[in-house]
Amino acid sequence: MRVGIGILGFGTVGGALLRKLVEEGSSVSTKTGLEIEVVRVAVRDLAKDRPVALADGVLTDNPLEVVNDPGVQLVVEIMGGEEPAGDLVAAALRAGKPVVTANKALIASRGEELIGIAGQSGVPLLFEAAVAGGIPIIRPLSETLAGEQIDRVLGIVNGTTNYILTKMTEEGAEYKAALAEAQELGYAESDPTADVSGADAAAKAAILASLAFGTWVGSDRVYTEGIEHIGATDVRIAAELGYVIKLLAVAENTAEGISVRVHPAVVPAAHPLAVIRGATNAVFVEGPSFHELLFAGPGAGGAPTATAVLGDVVDAARELLAGAQVAPPIRFQPGRVLDFESATTTWYLRLEVADRPGVLAQVAGVFADNDVSIKSVWQEGEDDGATLLLVTHANNEGRQRASAAALRSLEVVRDVAAVIRVEGAGPTPNL
Ligand code: NAP
Ligand code: HSE
Repeated sequence: MRVGIGILGFGTVGGALLRKLVEEGSSVSTKTGLEIEVVRVAVRDLAKDRPVALADGVLTDNPLEVVNDPGVQLVVEIMGGEEPAGDLVAAALRAGKPVVTANKALIASRGEELIGIAGQSGVPLLFEAAVAGGIPIIRPLSETLAGEQIDRVLGIVNGTTNYILTKMTEEGAEYKAALAEAQELGYAESDPTADVSGADAAAKAAILASLAFGTWVGSDRVYTEGIEHIGATDVRIAAELGYVIKLLAVAENTAEGISVRVHPAVVPAAHPLAVIRGATNAVFVEGPSFHELLFAGPGAGGAPTATAVLGDVVDAARELLAGAQVAPPIRFQPGRVLDFESATTTWYLRLEVADRPGVLAQVAGVFADNDVSIKSVWQEGEDDGATLLLVTHANNEGRQRASAAALRSLEVVRDVAAVIRVEGAGPTPNL
């Protein structure tokens, strides 16, 4: 059974996918009976060297030629960016061609519309590779757990930042050198600002929340903080106190509404997420029937991502050959998405303060005024250069922020040098 596919993009993921299809294609046909033929491939620069040789006439620098080619029955979008990728995906779906994409930025911004177009055309739009690279998480959320109440999704969903934080924690590496390595290894986005600013993780968190809770959450509703402000001092202090710093995505569905956020977090060293190293990703899904499920594996890189893309290609090709009308996996319902200010958070703060009588009392007074309770306090240094480290009890994010603002206005506080939220300090998941 032959299926002709067109691929938009021949970069990190495209190169790995074409290697699988062109050089290792026999295992797809042996296991599935499908002959997947690469009919057309679009790139930006026809003069670039490519890691896999393709037959004459396959490469083009006009992506519309791929979508419109009558021999292309299924389109794989792995070029990245919101446009022109979005319009190309929409055009393919309108033409009745199934689409597989790894593009989380596109799905997070236009996913609801594109899923709607796919539904009208009765063809699949699959995006397993868009979240957490090679880890199967989209299918479990949209199929296996489709009938379940899901309360919380918590995880590490960006490989580049986890790689950088791991290198800083374990080897004392410089932030910039670790980022350059992550780019070299093919983990980072074309513009790595998307990784380090948290935007990539926010797009993934929005997709996870939408599928988990059945309400579409745009990435503009995700509170987003990156790792650019995390320095060696906080990495060292966290380690001394028995914590590690991770960039986390947290999506919660409470009686008040849905809350989705991405930010660095201080995590106890004993928590399962603390040992997720390098470009590995891990996602906890929590619900009353199944308690906790943990999905973990390679979250970035050409080969693992191509594995997820190929799985979707096989799935979509089977649907295509079966000739069935495919309904969207989830029917999204309206829901309330909360502002982050109303979320409940726990804070770690590093304050640079004068070391003289009454300073701690003033600091404690600010927290008391804002009804925020302090859990622990440590002090480093003395005389001119004292550093106060505080961890608060869980409280309203808005009240925590009001405390930080009031601390900044105290004459004895020279700097609120770091604010990092604490996650996982409650009971350790029962794995
Ligand atoms: P990449 O290495 O930058 O490759 C992008 C490819 O698309 C290149 O071949 C480029 O052509 C082509 N392209 C870009 N714009 C084009 C245009 N307007 N017309 C024609 N071709 C165009 O990106 P990547 O790392 O493979 O990522 C691809 C997608 O997968 C992104 O959505 C990314 O978020 C997602 N993803 C990546 C990873 C990962 O670990 N890398 C993991 C999961 C998901 P040239 O080669 O000629 O420049
Ligand atoms: N740049 C992304 C990351 C690729 O580092 O996780 C996987 O989506």
